Amino acid sequence: MPRLVYLNGDFVPLDQAQIPVMDRGFLFGDGIYEVTAVLGGRLIDNAPHLARLERSLEEIGIANPHTDMEWTRLQYDLIRRNGLGDGLVYIEVTRGVFERDFLCPTDLRPTVAMFPQAKELRDPPAATTGVAVVTVPDLRWKRRDIKSVALLAQVLAKQAARAAGVAEAWMVEDGYVTEGASSTAFIIASDGRIVTRPLSTAVLPGITRSAVLKLAERHGLRFEERPFAVAEALGAAEAFLTSASSLVTPVVAIDGHPVGDGKPGPLTKELRKLYLQMAEAS
Ligand code: PDD
Repeated sequence: MPRLVYLNGDFVPLDQAQIPVMDRGFLFGDGIYEVTAVLGGRLIDNAPHLARLERSLEEIGIANPHTDMEWTRLQYDLIRRNGLGDGLVYIEVTRGVFERDFLCPTDLRPTVAMFPQAKELRDPPAATTGVAVVTVPDLRWKRRDIKSVALLAQVLAKQAARAAGVAEAWMVEDGYVTEGASSTAFIIASDGRIVTRPLSTAVLPGITRSAVLKLAERHGLRFEERPFAVAEALGAAEAFLTSASSLVTPVVAIDGHPVGDGKPGPLTKELRKLYLQMAEAS
């Protein structure tokens, strides 16, 4: 069965979905995206993803083309038509199509595209083995709280990770880890405290991050929202990353140095278990 994508009102086979060359997403990276996890055909934690989509669009002056209810209906329509069990639903909204010029009319019709990706989320190898990361300079702009489709710095960071033979890059600014190229970075200090950077324009407000902090609070685990330096991460008891596409994944090495004993840590494993339980129950 060919994958069906949603494009501007229609569900069409992927190879027939066409976007004009003059689309501002293509020419300027002028658009916003969202990625929601799907388990057993159900969207996980979707409401905050749609709230972040709304906020990102507002921050760059694109009118949200759909209400949350319409988005949710479209997402489930896409899941159903594609028979998606576990994986991701990707949404992209660009400012629309216009002759190439930095400025364009304010009333363009946004381009809306959505597609599903099947993915092993419950029990991928990385959840058991953990992943290694390398640190790279954070080359991004100053509004990283906006989920912009302009991801060149992240693509370069991922290429650096691949060149180092690892799965993810942790981006560093002024000696402190901002976040992963496509994930939120966490460490667990030797006193058991979970540490992640506070929200600001320096990082994307991760939806999985927020869910994990809520779970930590509910289960009496101590956490601290503050920046942490690479040196502190190298000496941490555990480390992990979170995202819709990896949920909670142990980090077992940073720049070639093992974290803790170089194996997924017990608290990280517990947080992944709690996250999956929460997702199954929602
Ligand atoms: N990336 N930080 C960055 C820079 C990200 O790109 C992502 C997600 C996250 C985690 O956010 P969330 O928990 O809401 O997925 C943090 C998505 C998955 C992607 O680009 O594919």
